[in-house]
Amino acid sequence: MANIAFYGVKPWGQEYLKKYLKGHKLYFHEEHIDEEHPPTEKDIDILSVFVGSNVTAEVIGSLPKLKYITTRSTGFDHIDLKACEERKILVSNVPSYGENTVAEYAFALILVLSRRIYDAYEQVREEGDFSYDNLQGFDLMGKTLGVIGTGRIGKHTARIGKGFDMEVLAYDVSPDKKFARKIGVKYVSLEKLLKESDIVSLHVPYMKETHHLINKEKIALMKKGSYLINTSRGAIVDTQALVGALKSGLLAGAGLDVFEEEEAVKDEASFLSAKDTTDHDLRNVIADHILVDMPNVIVTPHNAFNTKEALERILDTTVENVNKFLKRKPQNIVN
Ligand code: NAI
Repeated sequence: MANIAFYGVKPWGQEYLKKYLKGHKLYFHEEHIDEEHPPTEKDIDILSVFVGSNVTAEVIGSLPKLKYITTRSTGFDHIDLKACEERKILVSNVPSYGENTVAEYAFALILVLSRRIYDAYEQVREEGDFSYDNLQGFDLMGKTLGVIGTGRIGKHTARIGKGFDMEVLAYDVSPDKKFARKIGVKYVSLEKLLKESDIVSLHVPYMKETHHLINKEKIALMKKGSYLINTSRGAIVDTQALVGALKSGLLAGAGLDVFEEEEAVKDEASFLSAKDTTDHDLRNVIADHILVDMPNVIVTPHNAFNTKEALERILDTTVENVNKFLKRKPQNIVN
């Protein structure tokens, strides 16, 4: 029998997990954890979190019996892997639960921008105005989509782009040439992709190498009037440079499901009362607020994963991860 704590899990998810993890001592919390809100049970062997948690060395240090962390997400940049390694704590993720789920969302953001869906909705609902004079959009057919990162989600995004009859350019450190030939995608350099794409969609994981991959210099290469879509991780884009490019008109708009400092912006009360805010760049927090207020920017609350089907797949893999770890055959290990 193991002691397992789940953080950031809604009541329906708690019921689901209880059904499939009988015989263990289970603790459930809807809240996330971080240094300011550390786990309340100290005797746990296994910890399961979602992206709203920040599992730092200090959090790990407060759990002396912890042997295994299974995050219910694909990304694992919210867990200090170095601190886990020092304690020989294994970490698993859910590598694949919704390449379609996130790619469909990237296109939802694209279509909201290309067809001015939010403006149309607001005009009808708020003003009762049914004219279409100020709602002209643009076709996707014939436009160029640039996909940065062609792993599971990026490939699906490229496929959807082809479905809209778009030209698709791709950039990846490990290009999949067979895939490119099969669906008619062209791998190019990052610079060429940025120069030639009408819409750039980001699908790389966040790590040291991808921090501000889209920085001021890279944004300056982007086609005038193009759009940037980020469903990946906020810090892949230099937020202040993005604000500058949107203000100058170099970029016509952006669709952002993720943004730098999103945790601080989502819970400003905790942020203000935090003992130490040196990990945060306050200029990015201000830049986020500017983005939220811009009419040509759609900001959503890290919601791309959030479908019924994807959430069930996440929990199924998490149960499997726990069972395999307990049988000493750990799976989906990321460290
Ligand atoms: P994946 O691991 O299948 O693909 C990532 C791709 O990025 C790989 O092909 C890899 O070669 C490439 N890559 C890595 N470093 C690179 C670099 N420096 N430059 C260019 N390419 C690079 O990952 P997957 O499943 O496609 O997910 C991508 C990211 O999407 C996740 O890491 C996560 O951060 C984000 N995500 C966001 C969600 C949301 O709700 N907004 C939900 C799920 C994932």
